[in-house]
Amino acid sequence: MLDRIKDLAQTLAPRLIEIRRHFHAHPELSGQEYQTSAYVAGVLSSCGLHVKEAVGKTGVVGELTGEGSDRRLLAIRTDMDALPIIEGTGLEFASHQRGIMHACGHDIHTTVGLGTAMVLSQLGAALPGNIRFLFQPAEEIAQGASWMVADGAMAEVNAILSLHVFPTIPGGSVGIRYGALTAASDDLEITIMGESGHGARPHEAVDAIWVAAQVISALQQAISRMQNSLRPVVLTIGKIEGGRASNVIADRVQMVGTVRSLHPETYERLPAWIENIVTGICQTYGAKCQVNYQRGVPSVQNNPALTQLLETAAKEAWGGDRVQILLEPSLGAEDFAVYLKYAPGTMFRLGVGQPGKTNYPLHHPQFEADESAIVTGVVTLAYTAYKYWQNPMAQSTDWQI
Ligand code: NI
Repeated sequence: MLDRIKDLAQTLAPRLIEIRRHFHAHPELSGQEYQTSAYVAGVLSSCGLHVKEAVGKTGVVGELTGEGSDRRLLAIRTDMDALPIIEGTGLEFASHQRGIMHACGHDIHTTVGLGTAMVLSQLGAALPGNIRFLFQPAEEIAQGASWMVADGAMAEVNAILSLHVFPTIPGGSVGIRYGALTAASDDLEITIMGESGHGARPHEAVDAIWVAAQVISALQQAISRMQNSLRPVVLTIGKIEGGRASNVIADRVQMVGTVRSLHPETYERLPAWIENIVTGICQTYGAKCQVNYQRGVPSVQNNPALTQLLETAAKEAWGGDRVQILLEPSLGAEDFAVYLKYAPGTMFRLGVGQPGKTNYPLHHPQFEADESAIVTGVVTLAYTAYKYWQNPMAQSTDWQI
């Protein structure tokens, strides 16, 4: 079966590269993926999938029913949106939309999703189970997965797979990670209210800028002294605003930041812990405060059994040299985590690095991807899907999260 999947993917390679270049040249921002989703729906329909459009606003769902007796439903999720970046690659298929660029490789993801659907739809009677392809919008604003789920995309799903390109892994290789792959990402907004006064007589006022400085220092120090160093927490205050003039004590400071964590227990405790520290400092110095802690997306926690299945499939397909076991997670965020509340899953990194070239990071105006990775992604997903239905583990309850 592996050879058949590889042959099918290889035969499709020129068509897939054409599709990817089309997406790359016609990027759309989060929540506005109208042309992309229409194109996706067209390809899925032509492969005989049952297609639903406008799932999760601009998302698409395609269902493929296997002819085997296994009724379990496997989902494969890819994302479709681009970024507000002016492309600087100079590629012949560079963005036609000035100021919008596929700088996070979602054009590759969408193409891999379509390629996997094309390959699996050609297996006919050899496809043992049922598969649902989720093409989600708005990953970059961390909303699309929730929109898809709200529209029922995860109903009946038993397991879910996904991928993200990665420029530091060479094209043709994949990276697999057990446990946490990406961090939980929450938003923090702190308002400190002091009392205004003359800059020369601070003791008659409550200096909100000084209290804000204490709060920032205290939070950073408390992370180092009070959080388990083996369970990372990153808190970044990215914006701070307050004050009016050089000789006027500021009565109000507002700051916003992002909080990243990996461990589920840390994640649970962080909102109250942060609020306690901020409130304590403000009370000490006579200021008032408001702490608004908003949950963003949780950490992507790869399911061990599914990750093992993916590793075995990838090693059979590509050999051990082209399968990296990733030792470090990322403190970036990924809304694939939202699906994992409903079914176990695993996400892998698809290498798109090009040897001998500068491999710019994701979200860089000169980010480029090795297109040969599309076939690597398609074969890895299609063969993992096939093995999912072969694997007796998949029958057991050990697949629960
Ligand atoms: Ni991305």
